[in-house]
Amino acid sequence: MLNTFPRTFTAVVAGSSRGIGLALVRELLASDRVELVIACARATGDSVGLQALGEQYGARLERFEVDMTRASTIAGAAERLKAARIRPHLVLNVAGLLHDEAVGLTPEKRLEDIDPAALERVFAVNTVGPAMMLRHFLPLMSRDGKAVFAALSARVGSISDNRLGGWYAYRSSKAALNQMLKTASIEARRRFSNLIIAALHPGTTDTDLSAPFQANVPNGKLFTQQFVAQRLLAVIDGLSSDDSGGFFAWDGQVVPW
Ligand SMILES: NC(=O)c1ccc[n+]([C@@H]2O[C@H](COP(=O)([O-])OP(=O)(O)OC[C@H]3O[C@@H](n4cnc5c(N)ncnc54)[C@H](OP(=O)(O)O)[C@@H]3O)[C@@H](O)[C@H]2O)c1
Repeated sequence: MLNTFPRTFTAVVAGSSRGIGLALVRELLASDRVELVIACARATGDSVGLQALGEQYGARLERFEVDMTRASTIAGAAERLKAARIRPHLVLNVAGLLHDEAVGLTPEKRLEDIDPAALERVFAVNTVGPAMMLRHFLPLMSRDGKAVFAALSARVGSISDNRLGGWYAYRSSKAALNQMLKTASIEARRRFSNLIIAALHPGTTDTDLSAPFQANVPNGKLFTQQFVAQRLLAVIDGLSSDDSGGFFAWDGQVVPW
């Protein structure tokens, strides 16, 4: 796995406390090509999963406090890497928000459900945070060999594939994320020619995010976190510079914008 990357490299995963992000950290640490994983989360100390991986892998796992809604924490993480002269070959933004029962945030079913505060919060996590990751991490990434910046989007963010409607905030925040990634890929072609930028769709995965919506998922279509993490890393491994600016599903299929 990850054979298209340099023999040893550093990976950054933002949104690593649980779900797909934690599974990606676990898979990256299991690869002997990855010498260091920087796991970013807004409260790394609260993540039982990260704590266990820290005990297992010691200094190969570093934990940084990064909140997608606080740009200064994203800039601060990038500054720390710069000061340590660490140039990652892989940066993954996995953090995402669909619902938060604690503040009554649920995906909208109809127009009357659209709420400005909910829109702002979902966009802050799903679009603005990843845009700040692009801003602060792209200039830091290695210029040697293959390097990939990928963000977890969602097929429901596809405008041309939208048949069901609803989920205004989540759909549009992921559509805007896709546009951020595509736009950055055009600039990167000029400035950072070894860099590949991609949006990824993991498929419906058994996590807290999908938990309230799993009842209608057909048999065999609800993926485990480990399966998805392995599939996404295989897709990333298969990306070439011609793929930069693309949107890819867990099975490598192109997702329409
Ligand atoms: N699961 C699916 O079926 C599915 C389908 C399509 C796309 N996706 C996308 O895949 C990604 C991962 O989803 P998941 O299913 O693994 O979700 P999850 O289990 O709910 O995990 C969400 C992750 O995002 C982090 N996060 C939320 N708000 C944050 C903030 N302000 N700052 C930093 N981190 C924050 C969470 O950290 P805390 O622990 O601190 O809250 C957690 O690590 C998301 O982008 C999601 O949109 C998932």
